[in-house]
Amino acid sequence: MEPVRIGIIGSGNVGSGTLEILSRNAAELQSKLGFPLKVTAVSSRNILSKEVSNIPEGARVTDRWMDVVHAEDVDIVCELIGGTTTAVEVIEAVVKAGKPVVTANKELMALEGPRLLALATSHGATIHMEASVAGGIPIHAVLREGISADSIQAFFGILNGTSNYILTEIESKSSAFDDVLAEAQRLGYAEADPTADVEGYDARSKLALLAQIAFGQQVNPQAIFCEGIRRITPFDFQYAHTLGHTIRLVCAARSTDSGLALSVRPTLIPKSTILASVLGAYNAIWVRGAAGQDTLYYGRGAGPLPTGVAVVSDIMRAARDLKAGSPQRVSPFSFQQLQQGELAPSDEFSSGYYLRFRVKDSTGIIATLGKILAENGISIDAVLQLPSDDKANLPFVITVEPAREAAIRRALTAMKSLDFLVEEPLALPLEKGV
Ligand SMILES: NC(=O)c1ccc[n+]([C@@H]2O[C@H](COP(=O)([O-])OP(=O)(O)OC[C@H]3O[C@@H](n4cnc5c(N)ncnc54)[C@H](OP(=O)(O)O)[C@@H]3O)[C@@H](O)[C@H]2O)c1
Repeated sequence: MEPVRIGIIGSGNVGSGTLEILSRNAAELQSKLGFPLKVTAVSSRNILSKEVSNIPEGARVTDRWMDVVHAEDVDIVCELIGGTTTAVEVIEAVVKAGKPVVTANKELMALEGPRLLALATSHGATIHMEASVAGGIPIHAVLREGISADSIQAFFGILNGTSNYILTEIESKSSAFDDVLAEAQRLGYAEADPTADVEGYDARSKLALLAQIAFGQQVNPQAIFCEGIRRITPFDFQYAHTLGHTIRLVCAARSTDSGLALSVRPTLIPKSTILASVLGAYNAIWVRGAAGQDTLYYGRGAGPLPTGVAVVSDIMRAARDLKAGSPQRVSPFSFQQLQQGELAPSDEFSSGYYLRFRVKDSTGIIATLGKILAENGISIDAVLQLPSDDKANLPFVITVEPAREAAIRRALTAMKSLDFLVEEPLALPLEKGV
């Protein structure tokens, strides 16, 4: 049987994992497909000066990605370099050549996926992007095919393994954020520049991309409400536990009457919920359909081999399409056409809130804060203060009944100038059921 020939651009974590899966599972892939997959070309920026394992004998190795794209002996191209500059040139060139492209690039697909898909469709090409969200969890396939008969109402995800690792280490070891981050960097769980992970931007791209697939609406990732995890302390976990909750960086997506309510933010979730038991670098997505109701997906969100499995599974899909002559059977965005998405204003979000203060101890603090909350129509649910000796930097928490985000923001602004505050108050949603 004639092989389907693969070109791989990018030989870092995901590229090397892809090469390894193609090599170690070659016989099994062939028996599943009925024909072999053959890597004929591999490219990356510095490939001529570094060692890359699992490149089959006879495959071309080049630092010119365009030579892979245009090679006559390459049927499917994988873009595994990431970013939004060269990667976009690669994908445009592949689809203009009428070839299927497999990508792991959430950032680019969240920003430009619909445009690139339209370009691909007009050239009879296809785009496959399973690896772009939650690495080893086949969430695209689930939304696109597994439960595509349902109408998705909401989903909630832990989509960034680095931030989940940091949060669960702060939780289990009572260590400070900076210490845990430094350890995560030493172990290779966090990048030298951790901004995209700890500020929530990586999770935001994934949320935007999943929302496009779940709801068929194009959204601008930068317009999504996004807060990172830098301010979370061991104290916050102690208070969260006292409330029967824990803290996770939750990507939330709900279809509402005023549009899609999308947010990435540290959130108190009940200890009894499944997302609360997602530890370390794992990811999970809980999807709620109107008819099928709740389904949950859990697994490794990153890493060369789990992500390599996702890439190679996409290669298999693309290869079957080529062999069976049925490309474009299923849109990678699940919907044939994406509508322009309408984001619900974040001011309208409503939930209970956890408000954490650090203060110089003095009299009248609760009365002052309570007055500001009352002036903004916010009802106090509970006041919690765990024992602490540091009267110059005393943490305590006020939880409030469900309130609008706008009211909380107004109250926080009014509190900013209070001279007993050591730092600005921290406000986190306190969910009953996520
Ligand atoms: N890491 C994960 O677990 C994971 C999980 C899911 C999705 N992803 C996504 O997968 C993609 C790749 O991530 P990664 O972790 O594999 O990145 P990585 O380890 O940094 O590897 C990137 C590769 O791309 C090559 N490259 C970068 N810029 C290039 C350019 N201008 N021209 C040619 N080659 C270039 C690099 O070449 P040289 O090494 O030769 O310099 C390297 O081989 C990203 O979109 C990422 O978001 C990653």
